Amino acid sequence: MSTTLASAQPTAAPLPKPATTPRHTHAGTTAMGVSFRGLGRSFGEGTTSRTVLEDVTFTVRAGEIVAILGPSGCGKSTLLRAAAGLDSPTAGEVLIDGSVVSGIDPRCAFAFQEPRLMPWKSVTENVALGLPSGSAKRRRGVPSTVEDLLALVGLSEFAGHRPREISGGMAQRASLARALARNPGVLLLDEPFGALDALTRIKMQDLLLEIHTAEPTTVLLVTHDVDEALALADRIIVLGSDDSGTAKSSVHSGATIVRTVEVPGARPRSNASLAQLRSSLLASLGVSHH
Ligand SMILES: Nc1ncnc2c1ncn2[C@@H]1O[C@H](COP(=O)(O)OP(=O)(O)OP(=O)(O)O)[C@@H](O)[C@H]1O
Ligand SMILES: [Mg+2]
Repeated sequence: MSTTLASAQPTAAPLPKPATTPRHTHAGTTAMGVSFRGLGRSFGEGTTSRTVLEDVTFTVRAGEIVAILGPSGCGKSTLLRAAAGLDSPTAGEVLIDGSVVSGIDPRCAFAFQEPRLMPWKSVTENVALGLPSGSAKRRRGVPSTVEDLLALVGLSEFAGHRPREISGGMAQRASLARALARNPGVLLLDEPFGALDALTRIKMQDLLLEIHTAEPTTVLLVTHDVDEALALADRIIVLGSDDSGTAKSSVHSGATIVRTVEVPGARPRSNASLAQLRSSLLASLGVSHH
């Protein structure tokens, strides 16, 4: 379990409280609410069937940043994929802005756990992928042309490089820039900073908060890092399975929400004030002394 961000102190200004209704921003982006209703996902059939997620129900308010924590393999990526319409749940549904997600959903942008850049395209072309031509606009206070985003993630010099010519961390930054360029109603981030060194990570977290301050889109952030969740999120949802050591342990039950935490205080947050919550979240994840 990485807790490398113990000293991470995002420097973005405090954010306004999340809206309960869709938030219209100056650039025409609408932050959208996301509701998971009784979401379940099993893989395989018959005796090989395995339930990964079970009865996951929660709502992310428009403009809110929600972090999802949980042990490896508990279904965090599966949950995000369901929200993006990249995977179909076997039970329940996901609604964005009140309408059911039934296929790949253009209201979402996804930064994958692995960068997934097209190897034959340059960094610039990868970031611009799928954008209607001429759609990149300059937003108030936030550079959002492809060039500006590349500058923000520190990749200007590598704009013309192919993915094989850049490092893993650079590829992950390009992937984040690609998701941001879409100016989405819902930003789905699957461990977007996982491959970055500690300093770049802090810069990217600050960047995410700056962009969110200027354009408070809805963010669902999967992370394995408790400190990252505490620094960035309005609310933390912990996924886990409650079948460990119980009588029904021969029947594997899927992961579900075992804990929801409203993170107190405006960002940037002091780690000292969150120390107790940090320990208790680590305990929820099975780490008792850290
Ligand atoms: N398409 C699939 N077919 C079969 N099993 C799958 C499929 N997708 C995911 N799984 C299984 O579902 C479980 C949850 O996977 P998922 O990638 O959502 O976990 P995760 O919580 O994101 O893990 P990590 O923290 O390691 O990224 C895993 O056991 C995985 O093998
Ligand atoms: Mg994952």
